[in-house]
Amino acid sequence: MVELKVSNDVVIYFSDNTPYIVDTRINEEYEIDNPKLLSDLFAYISGHQIEQSERQVLVDGGVLVPNERPELLKNFGNDFLDIFHRGCTDVLNHIQVLSAVEYADLYLESCVREPGDVPPPRAKSISLKDTRTVNLPEFRHSVLEAVSLFDVLDRRKTVREFFPHQATLEQLSDLLFCSFGYFHKHKNGEAEQYEPFKRRTSPSGGCLQSVEAYVCVFNVEGLDNGIYWYDAENHALKFVENEISYDELSAMLVSQFFGNDCSFGVFLAANLERFTWKYKTTRAYRVVSMEIGHFSQTAQLVGTAMGLNTWITGAFNDAKIEQTLHLHDERSIPLFFLAFGKGKYDRMHSLMKKRLERLKANGQG
Ligand SMILES: Cc1cc2nc3c(=O)[nH]c(=O)nc-3n(C[C@H](O)[C@H](O)[C@H](O)COP(=O)(O)O)c2cc1C
Repeated sequence: MVELKVSNDVVIYFSDNTPYIVDTRINEEYEIDNPKLLSDLFAYISGHQIEQSERQVLVDGGVLVPNERPELLKNFGNDFLDIFHRGCTDVLNHIQVLSAVEYADLYLESCVREPGDVPPPRAKSISLKDTRTVNLPEFRHSVLEAVSLFDVLDRRKTVREFFPHQATLEQLSDLLFCSFGYFHKHKNGEAEQYEPFKRRTSPSGGCLQSVEAYVCVFNVEGLDNGIYWYDAENHALKFVENEISYDELSAMLVSQFFGNDCSFGVFLAANLERFTWKYKTTRAYRVVSMEIGHFSQTAQLVGTAMGLNTWITGAFNDAKIEQTLHLHDERSIPLFFLAFGKGKYDRMHSLMKKRLERLKANGQG
């Protein structure tokens, strides 16, 4: 009898006490409604004999595979990372090699929708409809036209120590417009080409524009401190939550205190409800993360061009941020944080430097 092992392509997990099995190669998920399957599986891998018929069920379901099958995926030395990677790898393999004409037809066919089947609206555009609104000043072209791309690339460096500095409302407004605004409004005829989608200055997976920016105002002239959602459609800020202190910010960012004294911060969240309207596989997680990266880079370059410094982080307490941004009742996830202000270029915060010197003096550094 052929020796069998559990396939590396399956993931078994529990949700609300119900076991599920996911075949990551074909991105299909089934509820395991026969608990005996699990006990058979555990019995088999623990070296116990099971009935041939039970064994066959597990083979037919792709759970048990011949032991000689080559390893499909890498081992990163972290089981959860392996599962995560496996979960979004090779999910598009069902698309065969096609000619250009065949691919064009297949793609166009996949774009056909029932009338009214459009991307879901932005959750915040509904939930914040009647909230306090701050209309932002018109974008000033001159700010960015005055600097060279080379100069901006040269000056963009991560700063980990800001000093108190009041940004102007115009600066915040220009930064939001150039990084997250609907830029095409300035180009004749472009908006129509993009319908029903929008264009911003960063590329967007499926043009779904699922990135949402939440501004955390600490020190901006003429603007109350607090947390606001950037309404790109109207180039306006919508009030979300009362102000937070730098200590509260640091607590959210797993104690990283490098954002202290920034003028304002921007949390970037991905609206998965919009994204998964088109992209239904687990690959979506990769794509939205990359999209956030594009937006983050654009925003850092714009901020740098405006004479501000930036610090970024993806390390934070998700639940706390979801609560602060009121994301719990919508399918959006926070993915990144950017701080803007005036700071000094140094790879290390002065406090850390001092601590390092102390360690060195004690022979530990
Ligand atoms: C995805 C991503 C996550 C990052 N997370 C952090 C972070 O949690 N804390 C931090 O201080 N810097 C973080 N950084 C900044 C990097 O440490 C920094 O970009 C790197 O040291 C290179 O320096 P430079 O930005 O000055 O070129 C992150 C950068 C990226 C791209």
